[in-house]
Amino acid sequence: AVGGSALLPTGSGAAVPGPREVSAAVPPFQAEMPVPPVLRPARSTHGTDHYELVAKPGTAAVLPGLSTPVLGYQGSFIGPTIKATRRRRVAVTYRNGLTEETAVHLHGGHVAADQDGHPMDAVQPGEKRIYLYPNEQRGATLWYHDHAHHIDAEHVYRGLAGFYLLEDPVERMLPLPKGKYDIPVMIRNARFDTDGKMIFEWRDFFGRDTIIVNGKPQPHLRVEARKYRFRFLNAANLGVFKLSLSTGDSFVQIGSDGGLLPRPYVTPAFQLLPGERVEAVIDFSKYPRGTRVIVKNEYAFTPETADIMAFDVGDPAPDRSAVPDVLRPLPALGPADRTRQFVLGPDAEGMPVINGKSFDMDRVDTTIPLGSTEIWEITNNDVAQPIPIPHNMHVHLVQFRVLSRNGAPPDGGEAGLKDTVTVFPGETVRIQATFADYRGRYLYHCHFLDHAAEGMMAQLEVV
Ligand code: C2O
Ligand code: CU
Repeated sequence: AVGGSALLPTGSGAAVPGPREVSAAVPPFQAEMPVPPVLRPARSTHGTDHYELVAKPGTAAVLPGLSTPVLGYQGSFIGPTIKATRRRRVAVTYRNGLTEETAVHLHGGHVAADQDGHPMDAVQPGEKRIYLYPNEQRGATLWYHDHAHHIDAEHVYRGLAGFYLLEDPVERMLPLPKGKYDIPVMIRNARFDTDGKMIFEWRDFFGRDTIIVNGKPQPHLRVEARKYRFRFLNAANLGVFKLSLSTGDSFVQIGSDGGLLPRPYVTPAFQLLPGERVEAVIDFSKYPRGTRVIVKNEYAFTPETADIMAFDVGDPAPDRSAVPDVLRPLPALGPADRTRQFVLGPDAEGMPVINGKSFDMDRVDTTIPLGSTEIWEITNNDVAQPIPIPHNMHVHLVQFRVLSRNGAPPDGGEAGLKDTVTVFPGETVRIQATFADYRGRYLYHCHFLDHAAEGMMAQLEVV
């Protein structure tokens, strides 16, 4: 395990811990954790559900008694959840009600290049664009967020993100907790001033000291004494979380970025870096009524960021759900056609880049013949003292497998399909992906969005 200052990023230009502003005044576990509303289709035709979303400014009640200006889908701090079904198409009309351009990316989606929210396809203010999602891939917890060139980091920070839950009939047949016992949980952080406004400064790793869960600071959720399925997403630009329970009990991890794991993985803690998802079942039936179970962050660097949220256990409830020993087998790992190396780290000026090059929308960095299977060896060389910097790698278009981390096989929580993988300073991670079905240009980048927007992003082209 990596902990403490070993992973705290700063490097050039990053802020040092400053005085806390308003957030220290907010006692934890006061707010109820909201669940983002599910968006209803504007209409449904044969085989396709049509949705309409507008990206626009709004205000949100995040901190008690204060109003926070946000940018959001439908103007809300977290966009509404889109629920899709495998093999049923979704078409989303996004209108840009912002004063800047936008592009919308379905993170984890296997979609055509011109539907991927590439920044070169930006939607100008006042305009709209229809994105088509075929949903041919396996069920998974996906999410949608802004991807406009360079300003995406600030757009996402101000609220342009939401869940896209792709349900799969195969998964529905399993006895996992369902319905109101299946809850998406978006974890992020932010820095607020005393008026409740969010402060955006580049690479403000230490300043963003308010943890926000589904739009509220360190909330609590009343749960029945039974099993729940939670879909945790780290939607922070820079937040580094490792979740554990104050009771010392384990999570039963059932899923990762690309859907169900082959088998459940029982673990006392799991890490969640920007863009990553972990699905876990927590069984509250063993706790007496009135028990408060706190979700801790083992990577906290201030006492204020040590607690993420709390569950308050209520009455026992009937529970016929179960976690089967076998969840979903993975597709076979075929042989790879080639291996490539990627280095995440600073350039001569200390800016975050991939393979020494800053992002250039006019340059293709990696050309991949359609249908080929590749191994990517990703190294984080951001090891300079005093503070080495963690990064991760998100690859559009594909769900990949983690082959090894520093030469060792991945643990059970990383044994499923992934689209974003963490690489701590000094680590080398090998992943394998097959680039099938679609030609064209896609992005890959560090999902610490401040790093990506500053240059740690590149393009692949499937030809
Ligand atoms: Cu979640 Cu290129 O993004
Ligand atoms: Cu990074």
